[in-house]
Amino acid sequence: MSIKEHPPLHVPVLLNDVLVMLDPKSGENYLDLTAGYGGHARAIFAQTANYTESTLVDRDEMAQSHLTEFSKKGTQLLHADFASAAKQLVEEGRSYNLILLDLGVSSPQLDRAERGFSFTHDGPLDMRMDKRQAYTAETFVNTAKRSDIVRCIREYGEEPLSVAKRYADAIITSRPIVSTGQLADIIRQSHVGKWQKTHPATRTFQAIRIQVNDELRQVEEVMPLLPKLLKKGGRVGVISFHSLEDRIVKRYFAEQAKSGYEAELDIVTKHPISGATQDVHNPRSRSAKLRVAVKK
Ligand SMILES: C[S@@+](CC[C@H](N)C(=O)[O-])C[C@H]1O[C@@H](n2cnc3c(N)ncnc32)[C@H](O)[C@@H]1O
Repeated sequence: MSIKEHPPLHVPVLLNDVLVMLDPKSGENYLDLTAGYGGHARAIFAQTANYTESTLVDRDEMAQSHLTEFSKKGTQLLHADFASAAKQLVEEGRSYNLILLDLGVSSPQLDRAERGFSFTHDGPLDMRMDKRQAYTAETFVNTAKRSDIVRCIREYGEEPLSVAKRYADAIITSRPIVSTGQLADIIRQSHVGKWQKTHPATRTFQAIRIQVNDELRQVEEVMPLLPKLLKKGGRVGVISFHSLEDRIVKRYFAEQAKSGYEAELDIVTKHPISGATQDVHNPRSRSAKLRVAVKK
C-alpha cells in the first residue's frame, strides 16, 4: 500500500521541525490543543509513550472520532474549543512537558463539501468547526449588518476597504444565500479586474470562517494560559497560517521577552520557522509559521 494510493487524511505541517524544537523525551506528557487527526500527536507519542497523562483537544466531532486510538491507550480527549479546554485544565491544576497548537482548519474540514468551508466544492454555507454551535456562515451572511460584513472582509480577509464594501453590497443584494458555490459566484461576479491563481473569493471565505469560529479571540485567550499549563522546562509550539494569528502569537511572545525577571517563557524562535522553506513538499505548509517557547 503506497502513501500515494492511500494518502493520510491530513498531513501534519512542519512535523520534523516540531519534533526537533519540542524535543519530546520518553515519559514526558503532552497537551495537543488542536489534535485534529492526531498526526503530530502520533509522532510525539512515538517518542514519549506517555499516553495516560496526556490530553488531546479538538472542537470538531469528526476529528474526535479519529482520536479514539489514543483514548483507548488512556489519553484524555476533550471535545471543546481550546480556550475553554485550557481554562478547565488550568483550574484543575494540570501541567505538561509539551504543548502544541496547530491552528486553522484540517484538510478533511476543507475538502468535504458538506462542511461548507470550500468554494471549490459546493455545499451548505456552514463553516462551523464545532457543529454544536448554532451560529453558521449562513447566519452571518444572511443576517449581519453591512458594517459588520465590511469589517469582517476588511479585517479578517485583509481586503482593501473599497473591495470589502463592494463584496458586502453584493452579498446584501443577493440574499438569501445558502450555498458556498452561490457565495463564491457572487464574489466572483463583483470582482473587478483579472484574476489568475487565487480565486477572488479566497479571502472572503477565510474572513467568514474566522468570524464564524471566533478564531482570533480563541488565540488571544489561550496565549496567557500556556505558561500556566507548562511544567518548568516544558516546551510549547504554535503553528499559525495567517498573519492575523501569527501577530497575536508574536506579540504575546514579545511581551514575555520584554518582561525581564517576571517573564515566564524564554522565546526560542527569534524568527518563526517557515513552512515555505522548511516543509516544501506539503502544500498546506506554504503559509505556516512555527514559534516555540520554553517555560523558565
Ligand atoms: C490544522 S488541524 C490540526 C491537525 C493536527 N495537528 C494533525 O496533525 O492531525 C487544526 C485542528 O484544530 C481544530 N481547531 C481549530 N481551532 C480550534 C479551537 N479554537 N479549539 C479547538 N480546536 C480547534 C480544528 O477542528 C482542526 O481539527
